[in-house]
Amino acid sequence: MDKPLLEIEDLSFSYKQIIALESVSLTINQGEIVSLIGANGAGKTTLLRTISGLNVHKKGKIIFNKEDISQTESDYRVRAKIAQVPEGRGLFPILSVEQNLRLGAYTRNDNEIEKDLEFIYNKFPILQEKKDEYAGTLSGGQQQMVAVGRALMIRPKLLLLDEPSMGLAPIIVEEIFSVIKELRDLGTTIFVVEQNAFLALKSSDRAYVLENGKVVISGKSADLLDDERVKEAYLGA
Ligand SMILES: Nc1ncnc2c1ncn2[C@@H]1O[C@H](COP(=O)(O)OP(=O)(O)OP(=O)(O)O)[C@@H](O)[C@H]1O
Ligand SMILES: [Mg+2]
Repeated sequence: MDKPLLEIEDLSFSYKQIIALESVSLTINQGEIVSLIGANGAGKTTLLRTISGLNVHKKGKIIFNKEDISQTESDYRVRAKIAQVPEGRGLFPILSVEQNLRLGAYTRNDNEIEKDLEFIYNKFPILQEKKDEYAGTLSGGQQQMVAVGRALMIRPKLLLLDEPSMGLAPIIVEEIFSVIKELRDLGTTIFVVEQNAFLALKSSDRAYVLENGKVVISGKSADLLDDERVKEAYLGA
C-alpha cells in the first residue's frame, strides 16, 4: 500500500501580480522518487520553495506526515525533516567543505552527526579528500555533492532537489543520480526538479509535468516516457 508522505492540495502562489502556481495538487508516497519537469519559468522552483516554507502561500494545503504544515516556518519544516538542495546549490564558498556539511546538521543535537558525515564521505569520497578546502574552490559537480551532503545532514525524510544536473558533466550527473537512487533504497523519499526530462523520467518512479504553474500531466515515469504529449514537448521526439 502506498503511504503518502507529502500531500499538496489546491496550492496556489503568486509573486505580487505574477501567478506562479495555480491549484497544484500532488502526492508523494514514502520511499518514492518523484520528478517534476517543466520549461523555464513553469514554477518548479516556486513549488519546491513553497514546500520548504521559503515561500509563504495563502491558498491551499501542504500536509507532511499527516500534519498540516501550511502555516509553519521553514525552520519548523527542517526539523520535521524536509531538506532542500536549492537551485544553484547555495554553499558558503569561504567555509570549508566540512564546515558546509556540518551546517546541515544545525537542528540536531544527537550523537550520530559524525556517523552521518562518514556516510556522506563514503558516498562521495572526493569530499573527504577535499574536506578542508574552501567549498568555493571545488568543481561544479563537487559543489553539487556538498549541497546534497549538506541536505543529508538533516537526515531528511523528504529530500527536495532543484535541478541537480544543472551545468554538470554527464558522468557526474550519473554519479549524483546513482546516489539519489541509493538514498531512495535506504528509505529517503525524493522529489526532484529537472529540466532534463529524459534523465528525470529515467531516474524516477512517478512524475508530474508543470506548465504555467499548473500540473498538466502526471503518472508513472515509465508511462510518461511513452506519452506522445511528453515526447513532443519535452523529449524532443
Ligand atoms: N522572486 C520572484 N519575484 C517575482 N517573480 C518571480 C520570482 N521568482 C520567480 N518568479 C516568476 O515566477 C514564475 C515561476 O518561476 P520559477 O523560478 O518557479 O520557475 P522554474 O520552473 O523554476 O524555472 P527555471 O527552469 O528557469 O528554474 C516565472 O514567471 C518567474 O519569472
Ligand atoms: Mg527553477
